[in-house]
Amino acid sequence: MASIEVKNIYILGAGGSIGLQTLDILKHNKDFNLVGLSLSSNDHINEAILSVFKPEIASLRYENQISKYQSKYPDIKWVLGDEGLLEVARYHKPGLLINALSGSSGLMPTVEAIKAGKDIGLANKETLVMAGPIIKDLVIKHGVMLLPIDSEHFALWELLRQVENRDNIKKIAITASGGALRHLSRRDLVNVTKEDALKHPNWEMGPKITIDSATMVNKGLEIIEANHLFGFDYYDIETLLHDESLVHAIVYLKDGTKLMNISKNDMKIPIRKVLYFPYQIEDEPITNISKLTLKPMDEIRYPMISLAYEVGKIGGILPTIYNAANEAAVDLFLKDKITFKEIESIIIRYTLSSDNIKNPTLEDIIRVDKEIKQAIYNYYLGE
Ligand SMILES: NC(=O)c1ccc[n+]([C@@H]2O[C@H](COP(=O)([O-])OP(=O)(O)OC[C@H]3O[C@@H](n4cnc5c(N)ncnc54)[C@H](OP(=O)(O)O)[C@@H]3O)[C@@H](O)[C@H]2O)c1
Repeated sequence: MASIEVKNIYILGAGGSIGLQTLDILKHNKDFNLVGLSLSSNDHINEAILSVFKPEIASLRYENQISKYQSKYPDIKWVLGDEGLLEVARYHKPGLLINALSGSSGLMPTVEAIKAGKDIGLANKETLVMAGPIIKDLVIKHGVMLLPIDSEHFALWELLRQVENRDNIKKIAITASGGALRHLSRRDLVNVTKEDALKHPNWEMGPKITIDSATMVNKGLEIIEANHLFGFDYYDIETLLHDESLVHAIVYLKDGTKLMNISKNDMKIPIRKVLYFPYQIEDEPITNISKLTLKPMDEIRYPMISLAYEVGKIGGILPTIYNAANEAAVDLFLKDKITFKEIESIIIRYTLSSDNIKNPTLEDIIRVDKEIKQAIYNYYLGE
């Protein structure tokens, strides 16, 4: 490849699944300079990262971590907690910030990074689900790029760049594997354990998104993300069941042509391409595809899909509530406090019973996110 200008990179959520895969690409790669990151609550992971990378600024999750890191790595500027994420996002050097945080914690760092003029590589879909219109306005106002890393959105972004005239497009589709429990009927979901739901058939991902894949909330969030990223009406965003996770997205043209984006189920493909953008790099060709199954989404089996379409169409604060209820419910499920099926019932109850706010501000979004989660924890944990 022709040499490119060295690009400054920031990674939030560096110790998670997307974060570590990003670091793996950066390792020994002279095209990139890792300026800042946020580390994990897991000190073993952090030490492994710091044995290879020497960032200028790094954020830790908890106060009890900071003194030992400060004394061992005095040349790094150490920052802490939620404010630390914002300080990394605001750091004075321009560059590309990969947001690989999980959940609503990703929103405000995206906002601050855009305001600081950084381009965003967005894995954290919750950012757009909660505040799509606000983020899009900020991106335009500050003249930065918002590059999708989520595999289906990355695939759509690649496909849509091949279509010269948007008027020729009839609709788009994203695919869903169905997650770890796809072989079970709704009745069988009653006895599902945490271990069952965490066994994703095709992808190695963090625990929250793996549970979200089993409930199909992940696809629900992605439908809303696709609407914000590409501006298609919800009626024109289709979801398909696809066992093999090889076809990530489809663009249907009005003349009957279907453009499919097919690649290995490997998140390093979108991450690498986003890191290098606008330089184009090839991914490995895939061979030996013996079977590709594409089926219509089963909205009876996966009720979180139709709820996501409704929530997305109504908009306002409802997508934040759908997301907040899900985050709290998944957390409770992972702590063995509720059953798998209760995740759905919590999301339905809070989404349908809360008042909407039509054009929420960032303050509204942050407040409602906290209130919904607190109400759920109060109810289930008596907190
Ligand atoms: N994994 C995938 O293949 C994949 C694919 C497409 C999209 N995504 C999206 O990418 C995002 C990240 O997913 P993931 O699977 O990489 O998640 P993950 O493995 O759980 O990693 C998330 C990272 O964020 C950190 N984090 C979470 N909340 C934080 C907070 N409040 N302050 C500081 N750090 C915090 C976690 O720290 P700890 O280490 O301390 O827990 C962890 O290192 C999600 O939005 C997901 O939907 C992921």
